[in-house]
Formats: sequence, C-alpha cells, structure tokens
Amino acid sequence: MRHLLSIEDLSGEEMQDLLRLAKSFETVQQRPVPKVPALRGKTVVLAFFEDSTRTRTSFDLAARRLSADLVNFSASSSSLKKGESLRDTIETINAMGIDGLVIRHGSSGVPKQITQWTDAAVINAGDGWHQHPTQALLDAYTIQNRLGTLENKSIVLCGDIKHSRVARSDVQAFNKLGASVSLVAPRTLLPVSLEGWPVRVEPSLDQAIENADVLYMLRIQHERMGQSLLPSVREYRRGYGLTAERAGRLGPACIIMHPGPMNRGVEIDAAVLEDERVAVLDQVTAGVSVRMAVLFASIGPGSFDVSQELPT
Ligand code: CP
Repeated sequence: MRHLLSIEDLSGEEMQDLLRLAKSFETVQQRPVPKVPALRGKTVVLAFFEDSTRTRTSFDLAARRLSADLVNFSASSSSLKKGESLRDTIETINAMGIDGLVIRHGSSGVPKQITQWTDAAVINAGDGWHQHPTQALLDAYTIQNRLGTLENKSIVLCGDIKHSRVARSDVQAFNKLGASVSLVAPRTLLPVSLEGWPVRVEPSLDQAIENADVLYMLRIQHERMGQSLLPSVREYRRGYGLTAERAGRLGPACIIMHPGPMNRGVEIDAAVLEDERVAVLDQVTAGVSVRMAVLFASIGPGSFDVSQELPT
C-alpha cells in the first residue's frame, strides 16, 4: 500500500491484513516503553486544515511509537495566511524531503489532488463529506475485537448520514467485511441518492434496533449544513437519539458506537454512555494501533519483526 485515500481502494482481504498488523502493534502499546524502531529515519508530516482531536492525536502517537520523525504543520500559523496556495504549500513541504503526509481537509478530493504535488505517501485523515478511511478501519477493528467478526452481523448507522464521511467509509468497509448495513435518519439527513450504497433504509430507529449487533450513532454536523435541516434538536432526539429507554431494548451483546466528537444528550443520552456496551473509548484506543498499521504499510520497509524493541 502507498497512499490511503479511500476505503474503495482496499479489498476486504487487504483490510484484514491491516487489522492483523494493527493487532500486532497493539502488543507494542502494552509494553513499558511502547515504541519500536519500525519507521526510524522516516519523516511524517501531519497537515490538518480542519479541526481534530482524535485523528490528529492518534496519528501523532502512532508516528512517534514507530520512531518516525514527526512534523505537525499548523495551517493557521503558516504562509497560507499570507496568500500562499495549497499547491505551493504542499510542494514546499515536499521539497524538504518527507515520506508520509497525513492530511485532513474540509473539501472532498483534496488528498487525491495532493498526490500530484508530492512524492510522499498521502493518507487521508478525513476530506469533506467524502471519506475517513482510518476511522472505518478502527471501527472494524473495534467490532472485530468485541464480536469476533463482522461477517453476517447486522450494523445500523443512525443520524446525519448525508454529511458524514464516516458513514460513507464505514458502509463500504463493513460491507466488504461481510456485514449487513442499515441506515436510519430523517429524510433531510439522507443523501439525495443512495444509488450504489449497499444498504437498506429502515423507517424508524425503533424498528432498526430490533436485531442490531451494532448501533452506530453519528454526530449532527451543524457546521456542514447550509440551512437548518431539522425542526429542533429535541424532536431529533425523540426520533433518532439513543435514549435510556431505547438502550434498554438493545440486545445484551449489542455494541454502541460513535466516532466522536459527540453532542452528549442528543445522539446518545449521558446515562447511556455509562453502559458497558458503549465502545466509544475502545474506538479511540484502536485508533492508535490502526494508524500505526496504516503508516507502516504506507512507508515502512515491507516487513518488520514486531517483537523487536528499541535498542537502549
Ligand atoms: N472521529 C474523528 O475524526 O474525530 P476528530 O475530528 O476529533 O479527529
């Protein structure tokens, strides 16, 4: 693997290879010194043009735990502010000699465009409504850890599907790994066309959750809505929120997931977040191992003995 731009670029088997690699990197993180020399001598740049807590921090930790040299490029204090173009910015960073470029941008397609301007491997850390492939991989990893497999599992995605790159990536990943995926959302928060989406649309959350193995709640993305697409947040919660009453009707082994950041009390009630079926922080933890696997697969030497420790 060189670039990782979209889940579309990966087969189910390639995803499983990455998840196996992530599992071996999970063992590294349980050591007293959670670090291996796998990317020693490689340089990774994190270029986030849109806000992030989870993705940015976990890519940062992943690169450090693989012993890569790391540069955190800050768009808000860069020469972009003086009018430099994105292309000139990327070509400038590239000219310094880098191996990996992790990019988040508010516009769909920017990571792909950037592959034309750099020799580095480009990893998409979220672009507009389009894709968030490492989120989908860490979600699959979390489900596999809890349920053993995604094959024949019933996964329900609920909420703002229309503006969600997570939904687009997860639907493709879960489908390729053998799950059956359903969507539930107000009509205004579904894409205009679902042509080519391997999903079923459920008429209500109450019906959708009856046999769910995984209930994946999505954030309402007010920042991506040009106009108000909801009558009110209270009404949204009544129809599409995971209330304590609804959580009580989920199966005992059903996993409750959310990519974060979360609108507490809207997508999921605060009391439900105490439930042991909630896997939100497991998702965050998985993010580091999965991103170590993705960085290693993109810019690593091809093989590495994970039992290798850092020489002291
Ligand atoms: N899930 C996710 O991408 O979160 P951040 O925006 O905090 O990175």
